[in-house]
Amino acid sequence: MRVLVTGGAGYVGSVSVERLLEAGHDVVVLDDLSTGHREAVPDVASLEVGSYGDAERIGRLLERAHVDAILHCAARSLVGESVREPARYYHDNVAGGIVLLDAARQAGVDRIVFSSTAAVYGVPETTPIPEIAPLAAINPYGETKRTFEGALRFYGEAYGLRSASLRYFNVAGATEALGELHDPETHLIPTVLRAAETGEPIALFGDDYPTPDGTCIRDYIHVADLADAHLLALVATASEEPDERPWAAYNLGIGRGFSVREVVAAAEEVVGRTIPTTTGPRRPGDPPVLVAAVDRAHTELGWTATRPGLADMIASAWEWRRRNVDPETGRRREIAS
Ligand code: UFG
Repeated sequence: MRVLVTGGAGYVGSVSVERLLEAGHDVVVLDDLSTGHREAVPDVASLEVGSYGDAERIGRLLERAHVDAILHCAARSLVGESVREPARYYHDNVAGGIVLLDAARQAGVDRIVFSSTAAVYGVPETTPIPEIAPLAAINPYGETKRTFEGALRFYGEAYGLRSASLRYFNVAGATEALGELHDPETHLIPTVLRAAETGEPIALFGDDYPTPDGTCIRDYIHVADLADAHLLALVATASEEPDERPWAAYNLGIGRGFSVREVVAAAEEVVGRTIPTTTGPRRPGDPPVLVAAVDRAHTELGWTATRPGLADMIASAWEWRRRNVDPETGRRREIAS
């Protein structure tokens, strides 16, 4: 199949592009490079630099690219930033997303896989969280993703769009070629690894949560496992089964959680040195515990996480950093060695 990947120069998007190409599919990447990296897009995937919220550009691109499906990974995706700047999240994740959906309708593209998030659940009533849990986001990031999921569902019922929302839990790790590097970096594992490089302490955002060690618990999933799920979900949207739901949501995690302190301890083992920490205040918008129930992705997509070890995820991220990130500056090396 031929797939348009929005955000294909970003962390999850680029690894998904790599997976699609490995499986023999054609890929067109649309990315405005605001947080993604041009060098993360291989030459065989043509890169269009621009925004999915630009109606004219996306319309023209879909008209000439003749794609079978869209993998919509591009978004604003930081919980803390979303609390400070909700307008940015509504503008890009909701308004921009609708521009993309309408352009897809116009071009006759009727299959979409969407990068959603565990943040749609807010503070869940049950753990592990099943997909049928109430959607009650506690930050604009999760709420804007929930809103777009609703559009997918109702466009499906009214216009025949077939789509899947992949609700990611906490993505981690790297492949041989591709890893995580944001500027500024806010995610836990790259921040911990940066602390290992600099010796500067990492702040634990709150140690008074109702968890065994007081720090937040998250379900970490290897980015390559996530990419496998994208491919399976794209294939599933091609199904012509008459009784099929036009839209479905899938949790993607490993079904087990680790606290922030446990992540730091695992990283210390991997890098072979002590990583200093300080305790800061809670970060607004952080639920105490997020762990996925993953049975639906297993049963309906045939997906299983094959790289569920936290230490392995951190080790792959560390290896990738050592090859690609200058420890002095924390930025990408000019030429990867
Ligand atoms: N944390 C720290 N110190 C840091 C960075 C993070 O203590 O310097 C803590 C956070 O407070 C949180 C945990 O580490 O408890 C993980 O934080 P991340 O920023 O790495 O990830 P989030 O849990 O905020 O968000 C991620 C994705 C979202 C997704 C969410 C669901 O970015 O898309 O996981 O679990 F919705």
